[in-house]
Amino acid sequence: MTTWTPASMPDLTGKSAIVTGANSGIGLPTALELARHGARVVVAARSPEKGGAAVERILREVPGAQVEYARIDLADLASVREFAEGVGEVDLLINNAAIAMIPRRETKDGFEMQFGTNHLGHFALTGLLLPKLLARPGARVVTVSSDAHAVGKLDFGNLDLERGYGRMSAYARSKLANLLFTLELRRRAEKAGTGLISVACHPGTTATNIVKLGPLQPLFRLVFKSPEKGAQPSLYAATSPAIRGGEFVGPKLTILTPSETARSEELARRLWDVSTELTGVRFEEISYS
Ligand SMILES: NC(=O)c1ccc[n+]([C@@H]2O[C@H](COP(=O)([O-])OP(=O)(O)OC[C@H]3O[C@@H](n4cnc5c(N)ncnc54)[C@H](OP(=O)(O)O)[C@@H]3O)[C@@H](O)[C@H]2O)c1
Repeated sequence: MTTWTPASMPDLTGKSAIVTGANSGIGLPTALELARHGARVVVAARSPEKGGAAVERILREVPGAQVEYARIDLADLASVREFAEGVGEVDLLINNAAIAMIPRRETKDGFEMQFGTNHLGHFALTGLLLPKLLARPGARVVTVSSDAHAVGKLDFGNLDLERGYGRMSAYARSKLANLLFTLELRRRAEKAGTGLISVACHPGTTATNIVKLGPLQPLFRLVFKSPEKGAQPSLYAATSPAIRGGEFVGPKLTILTPSETARSEELARRLWDVSTELTGVRFEEISYS
């Protein structure tokens, strides 16, 4: 437990941030606090209505904030490409969006939806933005994972989960992929001698829209913590000078140890190669064989 609060964040004037899924849950207060501290913020969301409403909310709370909406559907690689081409400079990329515990569906490109959105969409986005990130000293990529990663299993022979699909196991697998990606990105960025920081976090159970409880949703809000609290690990990972890269920031802002599977360099390399093949995004500036 640290004494850190969002008030401890440094002045971010001159920095540009992208927050995926910034229209809802943890993403909205993440974008809001970054804007409050002077960053230019892109609310990256799939719905123009919800994205526009988030921009309005941020402007209400932070009059004069530099905030704009840009459309991205992480379940559609063409949309990810279009977003990455259209966006300007980027110092902070917060890979926050996720879809969770849904019946089996596929992305536009035919990937299992939770893996395709939560991992492959962010993998492609990060790779396409890499030249822009590397152009900015001290750039960071924060990927929001979960303690659910610890029960995730990755079977490359059944990536589509056409056999044995489970809503929770598919989510856990996508969150394991988020951590493997974070740590492999860090190793590659370091090996290539770049200053890019790659860090993951786990917000802790937070009352957002991620779990759909219908009439019981207000109860969820009473029992679990607020999105503002849930955003703190992302904000700490994005701005604390104590972060060097490779950390997994937990709900109390302490550094957690990822599961043994998430720490496997061999698995991370294999996932990287498979993700490159599936998305066609190559991370050329930090690639090695
Ligand atoms: N809440 C928790 O207890 C908890 C615990 C551990 C980890 N996390 C992680 O925290 C992060 C934020 O989740 P949350 O709890 O804030 O959930 P949330 O309120 O459901 O927010 C998820 C966001 O992701 C967006 N999204 C989903 N599919 C997308 C797509 N194809 N393209 C673009 N955006 C998409 C959603 O957009 P729409 O509004 O359009 O659906 C929404 O903005 C996730 O990575 C989640 O895994 C949450």
